[in-house]
Formats: sequence, C-alpha cells, structure tokens
Amino acid sequence: MERSAKDVRMETFESFKEVFASAPIRLMSRTVSAMRAMGYGDLASAIGDLDWQTVPEDDPEDPNLHHDWQNLLDAAFGHVDGWLNQLGAHPLGYNLDSIGFPAVTGAWSGLWSNQLGIDFRNEPYSPPQIVVFHGGNQALQASLLGVAEARRNRVGGNSPATMLVPVPTFSCPLDQMALQGMQVVLLPPGRDDMDPHPADLDQVPDGVDIDGVYLMPVNNPTGRTLPPAQMRAFVDAVLARWPHAGIILDSVYVRMHPRYRELLAWYLEDPRYQESVLFIDSLSKSHGVTGLRAGAIPTRSSALRNGITRYAQNIMAGPSNAMQAVMLSLLAPFALGDSELAEHRIRLSLRIGRHLQRRRRLLMRDAFDRFGQFMAEEQPLLPDPATFDWEGSMYAVPKLSSMCREMADKGGFSPTVTFYLETGIGGVPLEGFCRNPNLERHGLVVNRDSERLKAFQQEARKYVRLSFGMTPPPRER
Ligand SMILES: Cc1ncc(COP(=O)(O)O)c(C=O)c1O
Repeated sequence: MERSAKDVRMETFESFKEVFASAPIRLMSRTVSAMRAMGYGDLASAIGDLDWQTVPEDDPEDPNLHHDWQNLLDAAFGHVDGWLNQLGAHPLGYNLDSIGFPAVTGAWSGLWSNQLGIDFRNEPYSPPQIVVFHGGNQALQASLLGVAEARRNRVGGNSPATMLVPVPTFSCPLDQMALQGMQVVLLPPGRDDMDPHPADLDQVPDGVDIDGVYLMPVNNPTGRTLPPAQMRAFVDAVLARWPHAGIILDSVYVRMHPRYRELLAWYLEDPRYQESVLFIDSLSKSHGVTGLRAGAIPTRSSALRNGITRYAQNIMAGPSNAMQAVMLSLLAPFALGDSELAEHRIRLSLRIGRHLQRRRRLLMRDAFDRFGQFMAEEQPLLPDPATFDWEGSMYAVPKLSSMCREMADKGGFSPTVTFYLETGIGGVPLEGFCRNPNLERHGLVVNRDSERLKAFQQEARKYVRLSFGMTPPPRER
C-alpha cells in the first residue's frame, strides 16, 4: 500500500528519536520535563534559520539580495590565503592568537562602534574586552564559565552557580547549563506576550542567590523584540537584588534589527552595566554563515572576564586561523574604517534580517491558510495575524489549537510533533549547516539517502527549522 505523507513523517520522526537517543536532545528533554512540572501542558513550534542558498533569486522585495549576499561570502572565502598571510608567519600552525588576532578583534570593535555606538577595544597590556569564539554558542559556553568562575572567586567552590533564565528561551544555553552542572531557575512569563518583565522576579523565592542571567534583546523562539526600556528595567531589578550577577545578553539578532542602535543604547547610561553586562554576538545570522562558527564576546566586566579568557587561552586555544581569516574578510570594512563600505555591510545585514522576516511571514500565512484548524484562534504572540509582519528574529511561535492538542494527547506526542506529523511544517534540509558526522543528521537530514525523504526535503525547503517541543506557550489563565 502507498505510504501517506504522514507515514513518511512518522518514519522521519522515529528515526530522529533513535539517532538522538543519547545526544544533547535528551538534555533538552529535561528542560521540557522541567517546564511540564511547572505546569505547562503544551509545547509550541519554533520556526527559523535560513542561509543564503534558500533565498530565491527573484525575491520581489529585494531581487538583488541573493546576488549581493553570495558575493560577500564568495569574496570572504575566496581570499582566505591572502588574509592568512596577513594574520601570521605560520598561518596554518597552531600558535595562533587564541583571544583573536588584533586585526580580527579590531574588526569586531569597529563593527560595534560603527553600528551600535558602543566601544570595546583590546589594548596591549590590558585585559581583553573582545574575545572571538566558534560562534555564538561557544561564546555562550564561555560566558557561563565566566559566571561560574566569578561565583567561585566570590564565595568559594563548594556549590554550583545559579543561572536565572526567563522562559521561553533559546534551548541551547539551557543545554549548556545542564552540561556544566549549573543550577537553573526558570522564570515563567507573567504576561501573554511572554516578554521578561521586572515584576516576574517576584517569583524567585528569597534566599536564592542568582549568579547570572541569560536574556535576549530579540527572543528566540518567540521572535519578539524586548522594548529597550523594559530590558533595562529588568536588568536594574536583577542588579538591585543580586548586585554581583553577570548579565549575559545574547544579542545575535540585534544588528539585523531595524532599530539596532536603540536596543542596547541604555548600556552606556549607567556605569554599573559595564561591570555586569556581557554581550554575545555572532555572524551566523547577520552574515548567514552558521557553519563558519564565527562569534565574539564584547564585555568590560572584570569579574566575568577571568573565566572567559582562561577558557579561551588554555582550553579552547582559540578559533582556527582559517576561520579568523574569513571572519576578518567579512568584517574588513570595520577593520579598515571604511565608512561607506561599512554602511553597505550594515545594510546587507538588515536586508538579510528583513528577508528572514519576510520568509517567516510567507510561511506563517501559508500555514494559517492551509492548516488553520491546527492553530488556536487567539494568538497572543503573533501581533498581526493578518500580515504576520513584525520585527524581531526570524522565529515565530504559533499557539496550537485545542484540536491539535487533543490529537497530540491521543497520539502520545507533543503538540509540536503532532503539528509536524499532520502538516509537514518543520525542518530544514540544513545543507551546509554542519559537517560533523554526529550532527549532520539534525532535523530532516536523518535518512538522508532516502528517496522519499529527499522529495520531502525538496518540499520542505519552503519551510524552516522546527525545534521539537522546547517552547512553552502561554499558560491557560
Ligand atoms: C539567540 C541565539 N543565540 C545564539 C545562537 C547560536 O548562534 P551560533 O550559530 O553563532 O552559535 C542562536 C541560533 O539559533 C540564537 O538564536
């Protein structure tokens, strides 16, 4: 008998589960259990992540984006030799600069000064204010080590550090906190919009000592932009209660946001922030180079820097020369101080961001048209369900209907997975995303030799990544 599309999806899902039986996804499922224990009866879909290969060449709103984006990447990867020669006498040797070559950290410095109006600089004989990493996620790991080390310096090494994390949140940091044995206080959202709010902190019992907070100015997975005044008020409320807390601001979407300057401008307005705040940045989104693994931490915090620089210098020993060379090429206008070219690059990042939002809008509209019965009528996180056009990251979290949730109960899956099984929405072929054989099977690349799956992948190119069951929707009131 002919297998239905749903059978194929089921097969994909089953093999996905098997492949990940002993992988980090299991740790993520601990997050899911924790959230369930907190009263979340449901999980929702997160949608996002594209690279330039998925940009159509005839995008009516920005027909040259594909071309311009590709040119940037081609040039960066094509001139690696030249950049490597400029970076060191032994460009393929090991003794590279693990904090980041001065030219590379200088380029990040130029990027932040030029685009965001915030100055970070690595000066000789001074502790670094910018350290480069293998992407935002490794920068995040380093930040968590920085928080843990700051705690040990403060109170000794007898108990693990405690992180405060407003949910919904990006799942990878939770995974890393679990791997590092940190304690985590998940802060449930107090309102329908699920944005972190200072009043939410009342939920943290007295006597809980918070060492660090993980926050995003533009949230993955909700896609929402936290108004800067609210972000600042939240940070103020954290510091009022835990003055020693390190604030990790994962800002990987900020430079793609139309109001990029506004989002972090408050950082300069109170000297206290310099000691407590640390930023995470990455080229994965703004330059569409997730596989390159290019990220950085800009911070002036002396307390957090200890663990971070020790990790970078002694354990990680820095991103490779080749990666730093590509990074430098991508950021060259900021290293050279060429303001016209810099302006062009900033515009390209904004166009990439805009494109991602446009893809999200098309996907969401299509999903609502075709599978409206799976979507709840009230969509507290989708401010404009007619046009689906709003700022933020490329993600969106639709609330699923009670019908979908009942089907999920019957089938024994989370509603997110049920949604995927019924509609096929979810997953991206992820070509070029990650060459590590352990990770290659992410998402739909399980059974990559299957003809049926190949056909489904073709269809799924229109869609984007599904994070299986990691995001709680608003709680019923
Ligand atoms: C908020 C956030 N931070 C960090 C990352 C990871 O970025 P990178 O690819 O640079 O590790 C992502 C990717 O989805 C993200 O959404």
